[in-house]
Amino acid sequence: MEIIISPYERIGEGNIKKLIHYFYQELRNDNILRPMYKEDLVEAEERLYLFMIQFLGGPKHYNDKRGLPKLRQRHMQFNIDEKAKNNWLKNMKTAIDKTDIHEADKQYLWDYFVKTANFLKNK
Ligand code: HEM
Repeated sequence: MEIIISPYERIGEGNIKKLIHYFYQELRNDNILRPMYKEDLVEAEERLYLFMIQFLGGPKHYNDKRGLPKLRQRHMQFNIDEKAKNNWLKNMKTAIDKTDIHEADKQYLWDYFVKTANFLKNK
């Protein structure tokens, strides 16, 4: 029998948590993106973390708390132009580089973030 392992199991919850935490550490010093977020980043960090574990095949706590992701709709209120998109991706690239995730999974995550960031661009 073939055993299928989800990216969530392969990467591990701990690594996903670290990735998202590193991302928000970068975001703190980002003059373009930081003002878009509320003063307290704890809840935003939790939302992106829950979204990612769900996307990667883990528990669906995001949907339980927030309903359907509807990412494009939820991002419409923010000014996401080429610069904002590039900064978001730059912060995520730095975060990915800091983790101990296997290369193939880093590539998989990166491709997903690039695709989604382009989809969320609205200016
Ligand atoms: C393209 C550049 C992006 C910008 C400028 C941006 C900005 C933001 C901002 C300002 C928020 C509100 C923070 C909060 O209170 O939760 C947010 C939420 C969120 N973003 Fe992004 N984002 C970007 C790309 C992405 C990408 C690529 C993903 C997917 C991997 C993503 C997933 C999310 C999620 C899941 C939330 C929480 C939605 C909710 O439940 O309300 N974002 N984003």
